[in-house]
Amino acid sequence: MDIDIYVAKAFDSAVLAALHTLCFGIETGEPWTPEAFAQLIAMPGCAALIATGSEENDPVGYLVFRAAADECEIISMGVHPRARRQSIATQLLSRMYACGRENGATRIFLEVAADNIDALFLYRNQRFTKVGERPNYYTRLGAARTDAIVLKRNLQASD
Ligand SMILES: CC(C)(COP(=O)(O)OP(=O)(O)OC[C@H]1O[C@@H](n2cnc3c(N)ncnc32)[C@H](O)[C@@H]1OP(=O)(O)O)[C@@H](O)C(=O)NCCC(=O)NCCS
Repeated sequence: MDIDIYVAKAFDSAVLAALHTLCFGIETGEPWTPEAFAQLIAMPGCAALIATGSEENDPVGYLVFRAAADECEIISMGVHPRARRQSIATQLLSRMYACGRENGATRIFLEVAADNIDALFLYRNQRFTKVGERPNYYTRLGAARTDAIVLKRNLQASD
């Protein structure tokens, strides 16, 4: 799918919150509100990327990350359920790698739920490797807590 990717501004926080809810549902009982996204992207080193379809301009994906010293952390990422498996996450990650490299980052970390098979496939495809586990990390409405897996990827000169 042809997409455009832009860096979100504070007024895009409602778009980020809507995409987050579409991608994750209200899993924790504490939805990420537009206000929460606005505060997040105002933090030092934080930024959000939004992907839109080139033709209709609808938002189809987002990625929020934080850069500090030589590390980047992916805070949240999602692709609209109707737009998946069209390389949108791959393109968002590529843009994030470029931003990270521009800021001097050499490695990227993220946490992913141990049962999030789609994301685990994506990150394996992107050559992330497991470096840790956080037992019972995620709380979900009406469900048992879920472990987080910590993944890491070094940034390459070719990224
Ligand atoms: C995980 C997610 C972001 C992937 O987005 P996407 O745009 O569909 O991913 P891409 O199209 O770039 O996938 C790239 C590769 O990752 C792997 N992959 C992605 N989703 C997969 C799936 N459901 N099953 C198997 N492999 C998958 C494949 O290797 C794929 O390449 P291919 O399509 O050529 O086989 C999306 O499924 C999503 O938003 N999930 C809900 C939110 C979420 O889990 N976010 C990440 C939390 S850390």
